[in-house]
Amino acid sequence: MAHQTVIVLDFGGQYNQLIARRVRECGVYCEVKPYKTPLAQLLEKKPIGFIFTGGPNSVYDPAAPQVDPAIFTLGLPILGICYGCQLMAQALGGEVTAAQADTAREYGKTETFYDTACTLFKGLDAQGISWMSHGDYMAQVPQGFALAAHSAACPNVAIADEDRRFYGVQFHPEVNHTQNGLAMIRNFLYGACGATGDWTMGDYKETAIRSIREKVGSGKVLLALSGGVDSSVAAALLAEAVGSQLTCVFVDHGLMRLNEGDEVEEAFSKWSINFIRVNAEGLFLHKLAGVRDPEAKRKIIGEEFIRVFEQEAKKIGQVDFLVQGTIYPDVIESGLGDAAVIKSHHNVGGLPDYVDFKEIIEPLRLLFKDEVRQLGRELGLPEYLVMRQPFPGPGLAIRVIGEVTKDKLDTLRLADFIFRDEMAKAGEDRNLDQYFAVLTNMRSVGVMGDGRTYDYTLALRAVTTDDFMTADWARIPFDLLDRTSTRIVNEVPKINRVVYDITSKPPATVEFE
Ligand code: XMP
Repeated sequence: MAHQTVIVLDFGGQYNQLIARRVRECGVYCEVKPYKTPLAQLLEKKPIGFIFTGGPNSVYDPAAPQVDPAIFTLGLPILGICYGCQLMAQALGGEVTAAQADTAREYGKTETFYDTACTLFKGLDAQGISWMSHGDYMAQVPQGFALAAHSAACPNVAIADEDRRFYGVQFHPEVNHTQNGLAMIRNFLYGACGATGDWTMGDYKETAIRSIREKVGSGKVLLALSGGVDSSVAAALLAEAVGSQLTCVFVDHGLMRLNEGDEVEEAFSKWSINFIRVNAEGLFLHKLAGVRDPEAKRKIIGEEFIRVFEQEAKKIGQVDFLVQGTIYPDVIESGLGDAAVIKSHHNVGGLPDYVDFKEIIEPLRLLFKDEVRQLGRELGLPEYLVMRQPFPGPGLAIRVIGEVTKDKLDTLRLADFIFRDEMAKAGEDRNLDQYFAVLTNMRSVGVMGDGRTYDYTLALRAVTTDDFMTADWARIPFDLLDRTSTRIVNEVPKINRVVYDITSKPPATVEFE
């Protein structure tokens, strides 16, 4: 079934996929297209409206991206955001100039006043914070447009021509910092474009399956399954699409949390795919013996992982496609240039060099994490897998401080399980972005019964964060910490002391190593 479609016309802004994601959140199908796409091609999609994104240029720059002026004669609604707003203003006869310093140039959170009679702001608060990021200014708005929002520095934060259903905002409604931003986008979609909300994640699943089948044909597909949310959802999608043509190689490095390996295997038993679980615990522990340095551990694990995977892939023979569970935030992050390496994150990502295949498939490339989770549910993956918190590629090896041994791993696994169990029982797990236990290398004196002990200190860590670049230590209830600590020292041998980490990132990092 064809869905109502909105075209997001991409002028190179940094939030473009976020706009697309907001449109999907409103239950409307959309496609992001480069601004250079010929109009005729865009019209083949039978769009019900357009959104022009932001972009790094100034519209008065001769080399700035332009749009086919015929787009304004179609009778279809348009929402211009930031650059998109200025572009529309200029194209329709307004005037855009560089803002004089300190007058109309605005960055960051800005108190904004909205005209709630405007379709965009109908039913919303007349005053609120919007997120601005523009150095240009509409000195004159085009004919037919009314001012629809202002701030202290800028009289035309939003403009609207209700007759033609053209709207422009200088701020970014798609980012969370803009209060009611999503509602404004919804107002545009439902109020101006006549959207009916005929699209769901279930539809995304069907479309993705169809296009995977078309691409893969009768080819062979290989996927490295890590047990994390992204690779699991990618695997489930491929399993649904091409079934027995898919081989999933799950390298169990023995550094997973309690029962995790079995859970992953169990979740995939409902599909008739080729599921290979390589039990490589012994090999990894052998390679890690005596290694204390965190970066050295990462390197060993990363290399060994590739080697094991490569060996399995060779047994399968020629494959046509390699699947990667790259999601949209990974795509953004990898484009960030050469920031200082704090930790060399090992992901299943860097495999292609070692495996012979024709093409990579990245079916989640445009989705955000919560959308990936939603898709996982649609595919029937169990909740514990879909809601799994981020888990580092090197696993518990970087949560056992210093040398990694099987004994220490088992100790940590049990303690970590108790912490997660208590968090879930208290309902705290939903409020936190990551929480786990760390086996420190410190031993200290304790007393148990009438005897002296000299055992390990376990650290508990729980954080909230938006992007993992910075993180706050979580204020979890004392009685929850108390229950967890009591259980751990009673149930886990070799731990006689439990501490809670109250350091944020920076200056600490989320993981201890
Ligand atoms: P840090 O410790 O750098 O952690 O503040 C930020 C996020 O990254 C995860 N992390 C890793 N993930 N390989 C991964 O795949 C790694 O080597 C690695 N080190 C840290 C960490 O769990 C947190 O979510």
